[in-house]
Amino acid sequence: MMTDCCKDERKEEAPCPGLSARGALIAGGDNGMLEKGFDMYIRDPFDAEQNPQGILNFGTSENKLCYDLIQGRLTRPDINYLEPHLLQYSDVQGIKSFREEIAKFLTKYAKAPSALDPEHITVMNGCCSVFAALSTVLCDPGDGYLIPAPYYGGINSKTWLYGGMQPVHVPLFSEVTNKESRPFQLTIEKLETALHQAMEQGIRVRALILINPHNPLGDIYPAQLLKECLEFAHRYKLHVIMDEIYMLSVYGDTTFTSILSLDSLPDPDRTHFMWGFSKDFGMCGVRVGILYTRNNEVRKAINKLAVFHGCPGPVQYVLSQFLSDREWLDNVFFPTNRRRLKEAQNTLVDGLAEIGIPVFKSSGGLYIWADFRKFLKSQTFEAEMDLWWKLLQEKLLISPGKAFYCYEPGWFRLVFSDSIDKIYLCIQRLQDFLLHDNTDKSIPICSSCVKNEYPESDDEPCTNYMTTSMDDVSEGCSHMKKIAVF
Ligand SMILES: Cc1ncc(COP(=O)(O)O)c(C=O)c1O
Repeated sequence: MMTDCCKDERKEEAPCPGLSARGALIAGGDNGMLEKGFDMYIRDPFDAEQNPQGILNFGTSENKLCYDLIQGRLTRPDINYLEPHLLQYSDVQGIKSFREEIAKFLTKYAKAPSALDPEHITVMNGCCSVFAALSTVLCDPGDGYLIPAPYYGGINSKTWLYGGMQPVHVPLFSEVTNKESRPFQLTIEKLETALHQAMEQGIRVRALILINPHNPLGDIYPAQLLKECLEFAHRYKLHVIMDEIYMLSVYGDTTFTSILSLDSLPDPDRTHFMWGFSKDFGMCGVRVGILYTRNNEVRKAINKLAVFHGCPGPVQYVLSQFLSDREWLDNVFFPTNRRRLKEAQNTLVDGLAEIGIPVFKSSGGLYIWADFRKFLKSQTFEAEMDLWWKLLQEKLLISPGKAFYCYEPGWFRLVFSDSIDKIYLCIQRLQDFLLHDNTDKSIPICSSCVKNEYPESDDEPCTNYMTTSMDDVSEGCSHMKKIAVF
């Protein structure tokens, strides 16, 4: 039995009664700005009829352009099937017939030189889970992974909550130097520099994470750079985690190269691919993502964790049928989706051009990366947050660059995969606010958004990154004329 004295001591020791130290750390993590914005949006969402003054959400990366097609296909009779085996426990790696269908699908659409093996696939409830499981089995707590910044900030929590990994940023800037042909360009030199700096700080770097097509830049890695990155990782025995969740949301004239399409990989055992249904099929609510890895040991470990991240049998059945309808995918869904994405992108880009907002030229993803720097009161992240917060008060939710660990304040990501009417309204609200002298309107900023430290992002409890001071971060801001625009 515990004495009173013991009870008191324990009370003093534990700031979060009932939680482990690890639990307290997780619970204590601050909610990021994207979450705050999203919370405000769901309490007051725009609806043309019911709530026309509500918040327009141009912050969340969802493809809303083809719900008519998806809904039509998912309600056809061939998909309406429920046998007892689908209600039972199934293979934790994913139902075999579903993995076979995914393997065939990816072989074709990722242009693999030979048939992909269904045994190399693990199905999970979304790519977030793939990140969480993969980081846990590839790294030990405290290990680092290289990641070019800006990047989809959600990766931080996914790799930290279970795996305890820390990002090592490879900062990219809009300034174009002699060695670079475009803004925010990744080079092997930058990877080398970040890796060596991390090593000097005593961080054991175990992996390189690449997102292709990129989020938030919408950029597509040229095949040559991709190969060089793989060679670089091989040289330093780094795992490569290749996130190709936007693989089929490509609509420009740039050629997309999946790592699955390469004839050979420098280090196949350390190269891991992920893709899911959330973006290319606009089904983020269905929660399905997959890992493809040829490494048997990694897969053995992943499959043990997969039991926590399973995908319901009936969903796997429905999606197998869905993927197998090649005629519909090739003749209806993909051409329509690409056309609508391009139209929506053009509409938003043209509207922003009228306001005088340049954008980064992109041909993949569901969003554009836009340069609002001339609308900042000062070239600081505080001013970026100020603008973001004021736009939210004007009922427009977009995502500030800080949420993506961008090293230059003033960049915002706007998701365009929504109806043309809403895009016009978004432009209208931006125009009303930015061009009609509202920028000095004094609106109190939410207290947790004004911290002038770099960077608190997305939904992150994690504050471990290779640090770059605020001054370093602001340094690259004076080269606006070199920005590529449409
Ligand atoms: C680059 C990237 N990877 C992964 C995810 C998460 O995907 P999922 O919905 O499959 O968990 C997202 C979601 O926004 C993303 O943008």
